Amino acid sequence: MKIAPSILSADFGRLAEEVRAIAAADYVHVDVMDGHFVPNLTIGPVVIEAVKKATSLPLDVHLMIENSARWVEAYAKAGADIIGVHVEGDVHLHRTLGLIRSLGKKACVVLNPATPLEMIEYVLGDVDQVLIMSVNPGFGGQSFIPSTLEKVRRLRKLLDERGLHVDIEVDGGIKLDNIADVARAGANVFVAGSAVYGTKDYTATINSLRDRARSAR
Ligand code: DX5
Ligand code: ZN
Repeated sequence: MKIAPSILSADFGRLAEEVRAIAAADYVHVDVMDGHFVPNLTIGPVVIEAVKKATSLPLDVHLMIENSARWVEAYAKAGADIIGVHVEGDVHLHRTLGLIRSLGKKACVVLNPATPLEMIEYVLGDVDQVLIMSVNPGFGGQSFIPSTLEKVRRLRKLLDERGLHVDIEVDGGIKLDNIADVARAGANVFVAGSAVYGTKDYTATINSLRDRARSAR
């Protein structure tokens, strides 16, 4: 059970400090948006370099950009450890996932809430992690979409049937009061932006989130 706070909800004026303050987490989740694939603009490779210097935790980089393949190398060089690309933003997904692995990074494929699981059926053997979006990407602080639970359950079953050891990450609207349901459905990596950065004691919140996920199984 891994907790990945999203720095999208951090105070960007004190970014290094905000990253150091989540040392109790398992990953740092970094949301990269290009203003085309999603209606928001955020973080480029130079910011990833700065975040990398502030932490020893793996950087879980979520690319919400068009032509993600074009940028994979730059983000890998900047310090990303896990690189997530959206199935909706890449017509040559298999090639891009191979590229990520060839750079020595973990490959993650990401699905929007309306995208069926069938879209990734033929790349499940080529990924280390599947990220199921539980909000429409673009902003922090949105509400969890309940149909995600069924998608996570089906994915866990599919992976078990094939004997694949792939992490299931869920991103969007995860809070202390719903993380147990998401864990029970079969997820084991949980992104939490506003749930962590919206509280005073980040360490306590991260530990409570992890405890609730663990005791749900
Ligand atoms: C949404 C981002 C999420 C977001 C999560 O586009 O991918 O990672 O920051 O924020 P919360 O946990 O507040 O929904
Ligand atoms: Zn994200």
